[in-house]
Amino acid sequence: MSENLVLVDHPLVQHKLTLMRDKDCSTGKFRTLLREISLFLGYEALRDLPLTTTRIETPLTEMDAPILDGKKLVFVSILRAGNGLLDGVLELAPAARVGFVGLYRDPETLQPVEYYKKLPANVQARPVILVDPMLATANSAIAAIDNVKAAGAVDVRFICLLAAPEGVAKMAQHHPDVKIYTAAVDEKLNEKGYIVPGLGDAGDRMFGTK
Ligand code: PRP
Ligand code: URA
Repeated sequence: MSENLVLVDHPLVQHKLTLMRDKDCSTGKFRTLLREISLFLGYEALRDLPLTTTRIETPLTEMDAPILDGKKLVFVSILRAGNGLLDGVLELAPAARVGFVGLYRDPETLQPVEYYKKLPANVQARPVILVDPMLATANSAIAAIDNVKAAGAVDVRFICLLAAPEGVAKMAQHHPDVKIYTAAVDEKLNEKGYIVPGLGDAGDRMFGTK
């Protein structure tokens, strides 16, 4: 397994992912499960956030209690499927800033086509966590990360639900500093660039489009 990858193999995550993969999982259930899994993925991706202490008074005594240090986080959702992970990670860090990079993958070339971008100011001073359920060829993730790095981001992380080995390897080549947090690395990409066994088109399954 690649050094730039953290596999979140908690049994609850694996169980929920299996339910999502099933082709008969409904749109509503798919969204609910993705949101639930995003809490576990976010928990791992934020494990090393710096802490300081603050003096508080409990009902019994005073203490120096741990509290988050440093600047607020930035989450960047890669539209549109990234929005399926966004609400959950925002529950973990409600004060985070939020950016969006709109990309779709051209079905013939598998190259990302950018149609929207809005990032918060001051990304260079903040951990930036991109969210997108699928890392297939990694072309979309690499383009989105190019964008946030061009805006100055230096601490960049990537959360996805499922990855293909080909995408993990390509990310390690293009952005070796970016750690990937994922629930599974599947077998391969098929000839159309879909993850196998995978779960199909995440955006379509999440939003009921086809
Ligand atoms: C999906 C997915 C990723 C991308 C992954 O988005 O959400 O952004 O494909 O593929 P890649 O690693 O080969 O680039 P899609 O292009 O289907 O757009 P959508 O989110 O609007 O459905
Ligand atoms: N995008 C998806 O939504 N699913 C895949 O398997 C590959 C890219």
